[in-house]
Amino acid sequence: MSTTQLPKPFEGAVGLFDSGVGGLSVLRAVRSLLPDLDLVYVADSLHAPYGEQSQSFIKERTLSLGLMLEQGGVRAIVVACNTATVLAVKALREQTALIIVAIEPAIKPAVSHTKSGVVGVLATTQTSQSQSVKRLCELYGTDTKIIVQACPGLVELVESGLHQSDEARALLAHYVEPLIEQGADTLVLGCTHYSFLKDTIQAVAGIGVELIDPCDAVARELARRLSAQSLTSLPQSLEGQQASLTTDPDTKVKSSHSKGQTRLFTTGSIAIAQTVMSQLWGEDIVVESFAGSIF
Ligand code: DGL
Repeated sequence: MSTTQLPKPFEGAVGLFDSGVGGLSVLRAVRSLLPDLDLVYVADSLHAPYGEQSQSFIKERTLSLGLMLEQGGVRAIVVACNTATVLAVKALREQTALIIVAIEPAIKPAVSHTKSGVVGVLATTQTSQSQSVKRLCELYGTDTKIIVQACPGLVELVESGLHQSDEARALLAHYVEPLIEQGADTLVLGCTHYSFLKDTIQAVAGIGVELIDPCDAVARELARRLSAQSLTSLPQSLEGQQASLTTDPDTKVKSSHSKGQTRLFTTGSIAIAQTVMSQLWGEDIVVESFAGSIF
């Protein structure tokens, strides 16, 4: 039997992927805004952290995961990884006609928000050194000082379920305190894993410092793109609404309120993914293996 005759496992769903568990923050926002949508999430934990890998490797993984999701029948792809976006989303867009929505560091809204004129951007090493971030800084940094801080080590802690550990706090203090000392009153969470460090970042930065996390904006953009192609109706909450880029920290997904199915996959260890993803998601979830066998 040829591949085209096989049923597609993700027919009609929206596929999201990240280097690991970080993109669950985007999945949570999408699930909350679009409860009826079937969602497929792939954590490429076997290859995390992307931010410390070569550009060619990140591009290869992004293309591979994106095209596997397309082959599986998804109707749209959300790149839930800033590092994959800044280095590889252009290449992915060239390879597929699917709707692609991609997260990137929210520098523009941070510049609009700052009162002190100093913005800090927390990101992976590859994101912080990327041409995309350099361009965003040139574009929006004419009257604002934008300090981009690479944060190696944080992704690994979140992947290991150690996001609330003393080690995470110490590493965050090392990265965040110098930004605050330089006058930053606004911090961009430029990596989806950092959403899970929000409480600690806030504690280190101080309550007056605004954290900008674009997960909700990505969900809204997905809703608009799907509705523009008549693939979903626009949620009522979005009709006539202006974009606001801060995430409501109380937003919690209650899967019992969702009609759409959510399937979670990992390229890494199922046991670790199951433990860490359940911890981050806030309830026990089943994780499947993302391998050729699912097709
Ligand atoms: N969550 C990815 C991002 O948003 C982390 C990349 C990594 O694995 O280093 O950039």
